[in-house]
Amino acid sequence: MRETAIAVIKEEHQTLSTVVEALRRLVRGVHEGWAEADFRLFSAMLCYIDTFPERYHHPKEDEYLFRLLRARAAGASALIDELQAEHAQSARMMATLATCLVHYQGGSAGGLAEFSAAVNSYAELLSAHMRKEELQLIPLAEEHLTPADWQTIGAAFQANDDPVFGDSATHEFRRMRQRILNLVPRKMRMRHGGADAQ
Ligand SMILES: [Fe+2]
Repeated sequence: MRETAIAVIKEEHQTLSTVVEALRRLVRGVHEGWAEADFRLFSAMLCYIDTFPERYHHPKEDEYLFRLLRARAAGASALIDELQAEHAQSARMMATLATCLVHYQGGSAGGLAEFSAAVNSYAELLSAHMRKEELQLIPLAEEHLTPADWQTIGAAFQANDDPVFGDSATHEFRRMRQRILNLVPRKMRMRHGGADAQ
């Protein structure tokens, strides 16, 4: 179960990176004049980030992976504190992103610049955070967690059903998925829900 649990976590990271990168490119495109401001798509992307990573992925890391590792490896506490603080910061930044989008759509002066800055800050925090989890936290977890721990973690993560890339994706999210996949280079795409997924 250990390999499966780690694969699911990494796959969720990959999906999240794909969506955030697509959002970042789209906003840059609007700035540079080669993309149209599609507020419906922006909202769908923020809705996805708010729904899946913020409400499922990060809380499951906190509740299962971090909690169990904290109990098994005292030396991992400082790193876990840092990662948990980043989860809280990420949720705050998500709220800022939503506010910036409303201002931008409402026609506020400097709305695009503010939204673009908020998207870039969120993308940077998230990518550094996930890199830290994959390069520092997961190796510690591999070293210290027991097979029973991995069973618990794997079961929790396998119960996640991604609303965009999972089997139960709604029509609106399926539409968004295709647009996202068209926005990012093939090598950046998540392993599941490939370019032809519809
Ligand atoms: Fe995390």
